[in-house]
Amino acid sequence: MIVTTKQLFEIAYGKYAVGAYNINNMEQCMGLFRGCVDSKAPFIIQLSKGARDYTHKLMLEGIIRAAEQIFPDAIYAVHLDHGDEKTCIDCINSGFYSSVMIDASSESFDENVRITKLVTDLAHAKGIAVEAELGQLGGVEEHVNVDEANAKLTNPDDVKRFVSATGCDALACAIGTSHGAFKFTGSQGLHFDVLAEIQKRVPGFPLVMHGSSSVPQEEVARINAAGGNLKGAKGVDDNQFKRAAELGVTKINIDTDGRLVWCRVHREMFRDKPEVFDLRPPGKIFMAEYAKFIAAKNVKLGSAGQIDAIRALLAK
Ligand code: G3H
Ligand code: 13P
Ligand code: ZN
Repeated sequence: MIVTTKQLFEIAYGKYAVGAYNINNMEQCMGLFRGCVDSKAPFIIQLSKGARDYTHKLMLEGIIRAAEQIFPDAIYAVHLDHGDEKTCIDCINSGFYSSVMIDASSESFDENVRITKLVTDLAHAKGIAVEAELGQLGGVEEHVNVDEANAKLTNPDDVKRFVSATGCDALACAIGTSHGAFKFTGSQGLHFDVLAEIQKRVPGFPLVMHGSSSVPQEEVARINAAGGNLKGAKGVDDNQFKRAAELGVTKINIDTDGRLVWCRVHREMFRDKPEVFDLRPPGKIFMAEYAKFIAAKNVKLGSAGQIDAIRALLAK
């Protein structure tokens, strides 16, 4: 069942976070649905601009609609990840997306407000929710290239003004994470102090944590042992997700970890079975391994086991 991110956030706020997972193809889609149904967790499917351009935006829509028939118990929302103005408008008009993210975080505060409000007004006219971003994560994003060194945490003093001026429905905050597999050096970590201040300014308002892959060290070790070179890769401690959820983080974005599963499965297959050239053997293993990864991640998010309660609440 497709629901809106708004519905999921109202139910989850302060209690647990909903996993927002990026997909690009059928194998990721199957693993995601399987893992969420097995762990009885609601979820958000995120489609980035890059994912929409990988084959065709309609291909993704077709794959997701097919998955819904294969997994009728799934409860999920479809969301555009890191959209620009043009892509947001395309998704708003498509009738398929429950919400869009407008990422104008690299712009000045005033320009970010202007672009976000424009998109929000268009989205709300069609009943679609909007996630915006304030502050800048390190690492590389879709159309924004921010030097890690210049990453700027969200200023809690700006948050209330931004939310009221734009009318957005959820806010991605920079609290120390970055995209990709190399998030932290030394003892850096999440800035819970900043998060707590943000929540005080906008109590009850859904916050979003991007760059939340945990980059499991055993995964990195297996990839490197099979010919990869990911030395120094490091992610977010997923034992901290529940604390973040209590402080208002209702959506947690995970993409890189799924790519690591894909990379490990394929590297090991080609190392151990050099005679294999069929795409299906590694594809089958990937779908099963990704489903296992997703189910375990949903436990860390606190979303595992919530699906029956959500169904009951939505039926009221
Ligand atoms: O935050 C970015 C997401 O990980 C999506 O990555 O733009 O390469 O699809 P992508
Ligand atoms: P990761 O790179 O940590 O998986 O973050 C993904 C993300 O924030 C997508 O918007
Ligand atoms: Zn992101």
